[in-house]
Amino acid sequence: MFPTAALTTLLLLALSVASKPVVIRESHVTLPFAKSVNVTGAHDLVNKDKARAKALRARAEAKLNGAQLSDDAVIGIPVENQAVVYTANVGVGSPATTYSLLIDTGSSNTWVGAGKSYVKTSTSTQTSNRVSVTYGSGSFSGTEFTDTVTLGSGLTISGQSIGVASRSQGFDGFDGILGIGPVDLTVGTLSPGTNTAIPTVTDNLFSKGTITSNLVAVSFEPPTSEADTNGELTFGGTDSSKFTGSITFSSLTSTSPASEFWGINQSIKYGSTTILSTTAGIVDTGTTLVLIASDAFSRYRSATGATEDNQTGLLKLTTAQFNNLQSLFFTTGGTSFELTANAQIWPRALNSAIGGTANGIYLIVNDIGSDSGEGLDFINGFTFLERFYSVFDTANKRVGFATTSFTHATTN
Ligand SMILES: *[C@@H]1O[C@H](CO)[C@@H](O)[C@H](O)[C@H]1NC(C)=O
Ligand SMILES: *[C@@H]1O[C@H](CO)[C@@H](O)[C@H](O)[C@H]1NC(C)=O
Ligand SMILES: *[C@@H]1O[C@H](CO)[C@@H](O)[C@H](O)[C@H]1NC(C)=O
Repeated sequence: MFPTAALTTLLLLALSVASKPVVIRESHVTLPFAKSVNVTGAHDLVNKDKARAKALRARAEAKLNGAQLSDDAVIGIPVENQAVVYTANVGVGSPATTYSLLIDTGSSNTWVGAGKSYVKTSTSTQTSNRVSVTYGSGSFSGTEFTDTVTLGSGLTISGQSIGVASRSQGFDGFDGILGIGPVDLTVGTLSPGTNTAIPTVTDNLFSKGTITSNLVAVSFEPPTSEADTNGELTFGGTDSSKFTGSITFSSLTSTSPASEFWGINQSIKYGSTTILSTTAGIVDTGTTLVLIASDAFSRYRSATGATEDNQTGLLKLTTAQFNNLQSLFFTTGGTSFELTANAQIWPRALNSAIGGTANGIYLIVNDIGSDSGEGLDFINGFTFLERFYSVFDTANKRVGFATTSFTHATTN
């Protein structure tokens, strides 16, 4: 079970404005963390999410088929970065150079060099490997180094494998990625390909005894502006001030390709109507919306009466339809998590950021692009995770959720 905060070293990466100084309180180390919404055109949000879903599936399938993903294997629509991104400042080297890295639960390599160039110091050691990864939102390829990585205030990991990009695409405005997905996603990213995994930052914090549980917990809160203070990432433990009640866990699914990621079995009901019977899908901080299989999506659209909005690509409701909107119930690990009507709509303060009209009511549930039964039938993305505390537990092969003070909040 989970050690209490007193027994564990917690590293909290707080989502906050980038100018905020590093704050240390009790055993928590809090790092400035920035969030931004970047949607550049009509349908951009939906297209970016769908491209990511397609790329995650393709990536898992390539890996399962033993295909080496080359840096030319760019999958999906050539989109740029994700619509909602979280970046943490991470130090590499000694003295450390600070890089702004995207936090990603859907990939597991940590790399730098997309924006700011890698600065070698006495702790930098080049290996004989090349490394490459493709994402829904781009790709990178480069050289593997081991180096000292610093998270928060002086918490260092020595000998961490990092990629140093010589080529990257789709990461404008960022320096790289802090990959906190399952370690097996790193298999096949090195060439000449050894078929071994590259320990993630979390794995190394755990194996070196810096944290006592091999897990990461995420606290998001609903955004109210395009860049705001609203959450934190914790390595090695959970932060009880960020959730209410207890965390309930669901074993990682055995169904492929969801099993390559933070995959779980889950069913979804709209009110009392089942729209998706128990099936496998994933939990992903890099997806903005809640994406569900096409057949489930069409049941949801009929049940809500929503119509597709041609400006945003999202489903849109009238005020009368919104007043009748029922809750969605996501049941996993024997517990049901309620996404209220308010939680099913895109924050109105951000309507213009996605090309919508100021008072429009847009739904955050969208179509994953394929029918159910394909082993990755939903993605609980950011708009789900901002209502529930989530725990990605490597040691016990499970994902946990808990309610928070925002679960039932009326914020939109
Ligand atoms: C927003 O995305 C566009 C491409 O979609 C990119 O060119 C631009 O640099 C991004 N802006 C920020 C602030 O990330
Ligand atoms: C998930 O669903 C699959 C398919 O029904 C089943 O085989 C598996 O036992 C379920 N549970 C887990 C933890 O994978
Ligand atoms: C978008 O919808 C509006 C009204 O709903 C319609 O007038 C317009 O022609 C549509 N535009 C496109 C490109 O379909």
